Order: sequence, then C-alpha cells, then structure tokens
Amino acid sequence: MTYPVMTAEEAARLIKNGDVVGIGGFSSVGVPKAVPSAIAKFATEEHEAGREYQIGLVTGGATGPAVDTDLALAHAVKFRTPFQSNANMRKAINSGEVQYFDCHLSMIGQDVAYGFLGKLNVAIVEASEILDNGNIILSTSVGISPTLVQKAEKVIIELNSSHGSNLKGMHDIYLPEMPPYRKPYMITSPGDRIGTIDVPVDPKKVIAVVETNLRDNQAGFKPLDDDTRAIGAHVSNFLVSELKRGGIPKEFLPLQSGVGNIANAVIGALGENSDVPAFSMFTEVIQNSVIDLILKGRCNYVTGSSLSLTEESLNTMYAHMDVFGNRVLLRPQEITNHPECIRRLGIIALNTALEADIFGNVNSTHVMGTKMMNGIGGSADFARNSFISIFTTPSLAKGGAISSIVPMVTHTDSSEHSVRVLVTEQGVADLRGKSPSQRARLIIENCAHPDYKQLLWDYLKLSEGKGLHTPHSLKNAFKMHIAYEETGDMRNAKFEY
Ligand code: COA
Repeated sequence: MTYPVMTAEEAARLIKNGDVVGIGGFSSVGVPKAVPSAIAKFATEEHEAGREYQIGLVTGGATGPAVDTDLALAHAVKFRTPFQSNANMRKAINSGEVQYFDCHLSMIGQDVAYGFLGKLNVAIVEASEILDNGNIILSTSVGISPTLVQKAEKVIIELNSSHGSNLKGMHDIYLPEMPPYRKPYMITSPGDRIGTIDVPVDPKKVIAVVETNLRDNQAGFKPLDDDTRAIGAHVSNFLVSELKRGGIPKEFLPLQSGVGNIANAVIGALGENSDVPAFSMFTEVIQNSVIDLILKGRCNYVTGSSLSLTEESLNTMYAHMDVFGNRVLLRPQEITNHPECIRRLGIIALNTALEADIFGNVNSTHVMGTKMMNGIGGSADFARNSFISIFTTPSLAKGGAISSIVPMVTHTDSSEHSVRVLVTEQGVADLRGKSPSQRARLIIENCAHPDYKQLLWDYLKLSEGKGLHTPHSLKNAFKMHIAYEETGDMRNAKFEY
C-alpha cells in the first residue's frame, strides 16, 4: 500500500481551524510528535497573520511535550479531553483558556465511537510499521488509537523507525462492536489475546505519512524517599497478611498500579518483598519498576496500554526481547480499564490520592477543590471494579503545610464506596465493613500525620453523638483548606463550636 509521504509541516497544514483532532499515544509514550509540534508552529503563524486557529484535542491520555507543551504555548487548543499531566496545558486549563473534560479513561474511546463528542475530523497516530495491506503496527502504546483511526474522517500516520521491529507482536488490538451487538471480552487471565497485532486502516482515509525517528524521552521518577519506602512496605505487608488469612487466594491476584512516583515506588517495594508471590499485572500504565521486576523474575506477566518507560528502561527491554517478548502485551485502554475484565480477574488496584477524607472519599485531581492537577485517569475504573481497591498518599504535602487527610475532600473522584483500603507512610486503614464513624477513627489513628491528628480528632468530636450517620460539621468541613489558603498552613485551622 502506498500512502502520500510528506513533511510534518505539510501535514500540519491539512488540519483546519476548528477541526477536532484525535492524537494517539498514552501516558506520554507512543505519541505522534512531529506533526503536533508543526501544528503549533502553524497556529502561531496563523495567529500572527491575524487569523483564528484552534483545534479540539481528543487523546487517549497524557501526551508528551510536542502535544501539550507546544499546542498550549501556541494557544492552539480550544478543548481538551480526557487526561493530561503537563504543566503548560494545566496552566491553560486552570486559567480557563482551554475547556477540559476530565473523563474515565475506559470511556473516552467509547465516547468517540458512540459519537458523543461529535465528528472527529482527523486522527494522528504513531506507528512503528506500515504493513503491505496498509494496516499499522502501533508503537509503545495503544490508548484509543484504533478507535481514532476507525472513526476519524482522515488519518495522518507518523511512521517512527526508532523502535525497529521490537514491538511487532506486542499488541492485542480489539475493537468492540457497537451495542446491542457487543460481545463479552473473553479475557480470563491477563495474557489472553482476543484481537490482532495490527490496527485496521481504511487506506482511503490516509492523507499523510510523516517519517520520524523520535523517541518519547519519558521523564524519570523521583528517587525513593522514606515516605515512599514506608508506603510500599505498608502495602506489601498488608497484602501478605491478607494472603495469610485467606483474604486473597493463595494463587495471588493480578495487580494494577497507577501513575506517578508513588505508584512506581509501591510496585518496586512489592517486588522486593519475598513474602509476596511473583505476580502478574493487568494495568493501564507499565512503569519502570515493572521492567526490573520482570528481569528479576518477580513479575511474571504484564499487560497494559502503554510502555511508559524512560529511555534507559525501554532500551533494557529491547536488549532482552527473549524475556519480554512473551511477557508484555499492549491493549486498547477500553480493554485494560474495562469494568468487566477488572471485576472478572479480581484485580488488586493501587492508586494515588492527592487527599482523602476521614470517611474514605478520595480526591485525585483537584488541588484545593479548584485547580486541576492531571485528571481522574483510570483510577476510578480500577477502584470501582477491583477485588481490593487501595489508595496511597503521603500524609503530608508541601513540607507539612498540607495534611493529605482532611475532614472533607474538596472534590471527590473515588467515593467511600470504592475506597476499601487507605495507606499513608503512617500506616494502613482497612475500611471494609466499617461505618463512617469507625472509618474516621481508623483513618485518623492509622493514616494521619501526628501534626494533624489532634485537629482531626477535634473535628470528629464536633459532630459525633449528634445522631448523624456521617458526623460532618458543615460549617467546619473546609476550615483546614481555608487556613491553608489564608495563612499558608493547615495547622492554623480554628473550628467554630
Ligand atoms: N494538596 C496540594 N498539592 C498536593 C497534595 C495536596 N493534598 N498532595 C500532593 N500534592 C502535590 C505534590 O506536592 C506534588 O507537587 P509538585 O509537583 O509541585 O512537587 C504533586 O502534587 C504530585 O505529588 P507526588 O507526591 O509527587 O505524587 P505523584 O507523582 O505520585 O502523583 C497524583 C500523584 C495523584 C497527582 C497522580 O497519581 C495522579 O494524577 N493520579 C490521578 C490519575 C491516576 O490515578 N491514574 C492512574 C490510573 S491507572
């Protein structure tokens, strides 16, 4: 199959002001880079010439700087969905310049397929190979790229030669039928394949192929510190005790791990605990620590939607394809995050909170209830449907001026009904089967930092014994947050009696 080959600049000019553009990639890898950067330059030229130029941006999840930095700085984005983790895009969202629709990552591909987001004008995806029949082999992520290619009116392919043929065979591409014809996903263990290695492409839609040789240059993780080590140790000790008492079957269960420094550290700690059996993972994002654990024989198998690895870790994987070739599988995020698969497989879900309240509600997205951090990602897909849903957070943020354990979260992403276990560096609160009052006592005692324990006990006592199922004091619920905003330290909170 011969597609029109052109430069990124030529391809960018095919995208018109007002177009809704689906850009592939996931968790900042496998992302098209040359064309988005060229769109940003084109937007700047248009603006300088006094012409309007903005696009709607639909992605699988986080993208890299060529998308979110360049397009945000060029003021080229009108709306954005479903997840980002980029300082410039975050600023544009929080200033109100970009309208942001934060969405469960299992649902965004489906929203596109159902037509809920309107017409998708152009899909831009990264491929590591174009097959003779015109279909493509994706690169280091799948995300919603298959759906974007299927649903967009036009398709631009960035053909990235930097991965060689390492990734061929590592994908399992399955596009579900539309209701009422949708069938069960026949995945009964993490490694089950249900699709093809390539993404079907309608050749008539392909308007450009842009050849590149660019790696994603994924940022590294913060080194482990005392808090992340302690959180990792608490999580692994908790899972071992559950295993010993029969709360987890002796075969153990597949793990999901969220994004960020803490999630990466927790998986590393689990791998180092020899009482935790070698495990498999059914997760969304595959981070560095998993690659080390596979090499050490501590992780048997991992399936996710992206290889969110640093350059060093990706090269380690490529150097040992005899080991990784049949232990790593990349799927669309609609499958990795699908409630049906998560519930059936009995996933142990590990996600991160910005703050949690004493009743077990979790905020993963909104700083002080108002400013978007990244987005909900897949955290709630997994938390709601998992066998055990664990949320972790250091008990303090911003040098101790913020307690991550608060009376009432300022925004709820995963509710008390989905948060089963809460872990900070202080300890573990197992919330299963507990009433709101019982949960509050456990969380304050086991998870809050000593600097904030008395404040939280004082809050609980304000309303306990007044005949309330959930003993909140509405006039005091946000006093700690208000104290932070007004004085720079939550410890200055004063309750009204
Ligand atoms: N209030 C204000 N800021 C807070 C805070 C709080 N309660 N808790 C943490 N922060 C700040 C930290 O200070 C840090 O700021 P900095 O970047 O300026 O240093 C930032 O939030 C990130 O915190 P960090 O401790 O480094 O955590 P992380 O890298 O593990 O990220 C989340 C934590 C919650 C932001 C991240 O996990 C996330 O986006 N989760 C939602 C999506 C998700 O879970 N996806 C996975 C599903 S598969």
